[in-house]
Amino acid sequence: MIKEIIAVVNRKRGAGKTMTSQSLGEGLKLKGNKVLFIDDMDGQGNLSNTLKADKAKPIILDVLTRQENIKRALQDTEQGDIVASDTSLFAADLYSATIMTATITSPLT
Ligand SMILES: Nc1ncnc2c1ncn2[C@@H]1O[C@H](COP(=O)(O)OP(=O)(O)OP(=O)(O)O)[C@@H](O)[C@H]1O
Ligand SMILES: [Mg+2]
Repeated sequence: MIKEIIAVVNRKRGAGKTMTSQSLGEGLKLKGNKVLFIDDMDGQGNLSNTLKADKAKPIILDVLTRQENIKRALQDTEQGDIVASDTSLFAADLYSATIMTATITSPLT
């Protein structure tokens, strides 16, 4: 059963989101919790690289687009469990930005 979901979010680049996620996860594990990392949705895959996730396995994009069950995307690495991400998330990021731009009406018009 999932006890808690913690999202580390900030619009600013290089603000320490990935580092905070990893440190928080490690701390929670030390306290006896089971932790599943879900890597970033912006296509960098930094935590996946750090945890040496298997690039051949399904990633979070496959889960979000319902092509894979999340159970098949779970990876058990030496440094923790993760649902990985990779650069294909850039396209998803661009796609959602395009949808948002199309639906937001400018206050200047
Ligand atoms: N508490 C900290 N003390 C010192 N350096 C830190 C700390 N947190 C993060 N950093 C360093 O700051 C840089 C950016 O951190 P990080 O990659 O976690 O940011 P991010 O918000 O995930 O970036 P991005 O927006 O590119 O995904 C890294 O080089 C990281 O090692
Ligand atoms: Mg990051």
